[in-house]
Amino acid sequence: MVIRLYRVVVPLLWLAGVAEGMPDPSQRDLLMREEALRQTGGRVVLTATELKLDARLHRLKEKELSAAQFPPAVHFFRAKPLIQESPIFKMLQRMPKGGALHIHSSALVSVEWLVKNVTYRPHCYICFTWDNSIRFLFSARQPAPRWDCFYWQLLETLRAKVGDPTGFDNSLMQHLTLFTEDPEGEYTSQEVVWQKFEKAFLAAAGLITHAPVLRDYIYRGLTELQLDNIMYLELRSGLSKTYELDGTVHEKVWSLKTFREVTKQFMADHPDFLGARIIISVHRAMSLSKVKEAVEEAIQLQKDFPDVVAGFDLVGREDSGRTLWYFREALSIPAATGAALPYFFHAGETDDEGTDVDQNILDALLFNTTRIGHGYALAHHPLAREISRKRNVAVELCPISNQVLKLVSDLRNHPAVTLISEGHPMVISSDDPSLFGTTGLSYDFYEAFVGIGGLKANLGTLKELALNSIKYSSLPTHLKETGYAMWQKKWEAFISEYL
Ligand SMILES: *[C@@H]1O[C@H](CO)[C@@H](O)[C@H](O)[C@H]1NC(C)=O
Ligand SMILES: *[C@@H]1O[C@H](CO)[C@@H](O)[C@H](O)[C@H]1NC(C)=O
Ligand SMILES: [Zn+2]
Repeated sequence: MVIRLYRVVVPLLWLAGVAEGMPDPSQRDLLMREEALRQTGGRVVLTATELKLDARLHRLKEKELSAAQFPPAVHFFRAKPLIQESPIFKMLQRMPKGGALHIHSSALVSVEWLVKNVTYRPHCYICFTWDNSIRFLFSARQPAPRWDCFYWQLLETLRAKVGDPTGFDNSLMQHLTLFTEDPEGEYTSQEVVWQKFEKAFLAAAGLITHAPVLRDYIYRGLTELQLDNIMYLELRSGLSKTYELDGTVHEKVWSLKTFREVTKQFMADHPDFLGARIIISVHRAMSLSKVKEAVEEAIQLQKDFPDVVAGFDLVGREDSGRTLWYFREALSIPAATGAALPYFFHAGETDDEGTDVDQNILDALLFNTTRIGHGYALAHHPLAREISRKRNVAVELCPISNQVLKLVSDLRNHPAVTLISEGHPMVISSDDPSLFGTTGLSYDFYEAFVGIGGLKANLGTLKELALNSIKYSSLPTHLKETGYAMWQKKWEAFISEYL
């Protein structure tokens, strides 16, 4: 293990020697130190070099806190250019961050690549839907009309006809991401932003589910992570069926095998990459019987591909979707049949306190979830917090997602401030990077470290957060050990850069 612990025994009795009603200053120091020990990374012992870097970070943070615009207090779409200028952000980009444990497959790769690379491939057709969205389809022949798409145009022809390829490409990108210059004006409510969110997923689907594209897409996704100094991925994926140019359709297992192959190839090309696994996810809008089938299928796939399949999750907006309890019969199948299917539930991505949806966190824990996706509502659930902490069920904190999807506007007010202050098991992730206009984890690390962690969060916090992503991953023990060793080497190189 890399973290060394030290213990300070703090006597909780008031010391003598208080003058004229004033609290004892040494007692005050002691309490402050005791409190600092409790935060994430509070017990990480830093080397002399690390302490130097930490002091530098602290000064940089003070500067950013007193700047005219404090990025975590601003909507990410406006804050992004400010963050890119931040020396803390630049350092975070270089920092080895371990694994990304909460990313959805449809939002893994930047939309620039989807548009500039994928839509320029031959045989790509586009159609504009009645509800101002787009669909793509690769086809050897003119595609037949379907219910959502009456008229398909060959993209190459259309692009030539429009004449302004840059403007045209930008408009395509607009359909594939939530990014906009006027987020407050355009997204007036959670409903509005979620609508655009689901539309963007549908728009990207026709590109990503084309079999030859899927290969390159996965490779490109791993590349983008590695460029941000991430060495491991747990990807939530529905394992869509894929299609060939002639209309041939591959079943889900083809996607899984492709994912495994591409990951192997990527690791052969990049020996310092630890690997990638899948959390099979189905949409919570599905019926109980469909989810039962999906659970049974996931059990089978996990048996057949134990090195790739990490477990199971339900995805889609919690507030408008079905609750975990609604699916209790389906989710009980593994326990009832003696099968092992780890769960990685999204839970508590809501601010509707006291509703049925709000119970998802406790239910996730009752179903022995391995981690909690978001856990935004944990603040309302002291018991769930206690259980999650006791059982080492880490929260996957995705700050930018929570802000863009309108749970919180000023990230200094994110409920995870409490979780960081008390060292709750936690990892940082990015949820839907392509939709939010981020790549890798550095932007989310920035928001968590500077905005949520505040001035108190230090280099020890960052170290523990990175290590947590290996500790709370689904990897077997021996691969975790490999991961720690790889990470440690990268970390030492990173620290020595700043000597
Ligand atoms: C698209 O990406 C693939 C693989 O990543 C690459 O071989 C190809 O040259 C790229 N094409 C364009 C038009 O950028
Ligand atoms: C959760 O774990 C407990 C303790 O190992 C076990 O008794 C219980 O059956 C599990 N529940 C489910 C739904 O898997
Ligand atoms: Zn998610």
